[in-house]
Amino acid sequence: MAAPLLDVQGLSLSFATARGVARVLRDVTLAIPRGRIVGVVGESGSGKSTMASAVMRLLPPNLHAVTGSITLDGTDLLALPPDAMRRMRGRRVAMVFQDPMTALNPVFRVETQMVDVQRNAFPDRSRRELHARAVEMLRTVGIPAPEKRIRDYPHQFSGGMRQRIVIAMALLCEPELLIADEPTTALDVTIEAQILRLFEDLRAGFDGSILFISHSLGVVSSLCDEVVVMYAGTVVESASARDLFTNPRHPYTRLLLECEIGEGDGRGERLRSIPGGVPDLFDVPDACIFAGRCPQAHDRCLQGVPALREVAPGHRAACVLA
Ligand SMILES: Nc1ncnc2c1ncn2[C@@H]1O[C@H](COP(=O)(O)OP(=O)(O)OP(=O)(O)O)[C@@H](O)[C@H]1O
Ligand SMILES: [Mg+2]
Repeated sequence: MAAPLLDVQGLSLSFATARGVARVLRDVTLAIPRGRIVGVVGESGSGKSTMASAVMRLLPPNLHAVTGSITLDGTDLLALPPDAMRRMRGRRVAMVFQDPMTALNPVFRVETQMVDVQRNAFPDRSRRELHARAVEMLRTVGIPAPEKRIRDYPHQFSGGMRQRIVIAMALLCEPELLIADEPTTALDVTIEAQILRLFEDLRAGFDGSILFISHSLGVVSSLCDEVVVMYAGTVVESASARDLFTNPRHPYTRLLLECEIGEGDGRGERLRSIPGGVPDLFDVPDACIFAGRCPQAHDRCLQGVPALREVAPGHRAACVLA
């Protein structure tokens, strides 16, 4: 099998807080093959955004320790000097955040921002060329009359339109890896469906890989080739989208699926209806982190952290019962 574009191995990360050291990611392993869409799901607080920020190396100042490796196309991102990492961002790896306004500057026209974002990647192209590319990209993401609208300011667009503009900006530098961190949760349900359709349409013309973070298994099932399920800072299961939905092997994944099936709109807000809460990350037990909430827990679950092991070809689960 070809080497994956992104290979995260044994990533552990902690933050220093007033309460002590929070072990927010523990031994996270996942791979994103070239040209594929990989979904990452899990309840609020499971570490999805922290994992994405680690890939971008945009970590908060209270970072305590990080170990493991994050390799993009053979380059260890955690070992890169800051300058080289800055050049990597936007150009080879781009990120779309949940709230489009974090990526757009309210005081500049969309045109200025879309031209500027390309300057590093294409230093030899004229402003006119960069402008033309920006207009075409707005058209691709479904902004009507882009040659006119590009002169507007961000506040002149609706929330859904702004998210389209942010996605267009991320794509302009032709990144090999696009990370989308819950790009639809700030939007209402109909707009969310439109943005998801946009991602589906993009797969045809975009030959990079996408890491798509979502609360909702329903959302990732339709969009993604592979799915990684995170719980309280660890990966509990990963498989092709098909295998994960037809034959989930970890009790947590099964509960997530049950919660969503009973829910209707698929937005995953009711994931919190799994009894119990996400455990404290300050004093992590040497046991299965889900044992306290798991309907099938027994003694063996308390004897060490279960390894993420292959339970079927391409299907991994971290459960002694799987
Ligand atoms: N800078 C920080 N300092 C201390 N703890 C943090 C920091 N950033 C995140 N955390 C904690 O790390 C855990 C994981 O947070 P993270 O934002 O990665 O989760 P998430 O899966 O993205 O959640 P959501 O679905 O709500 O976006 C949470 O317990 C959070 O409180
Ligand atoms: Mg998050």
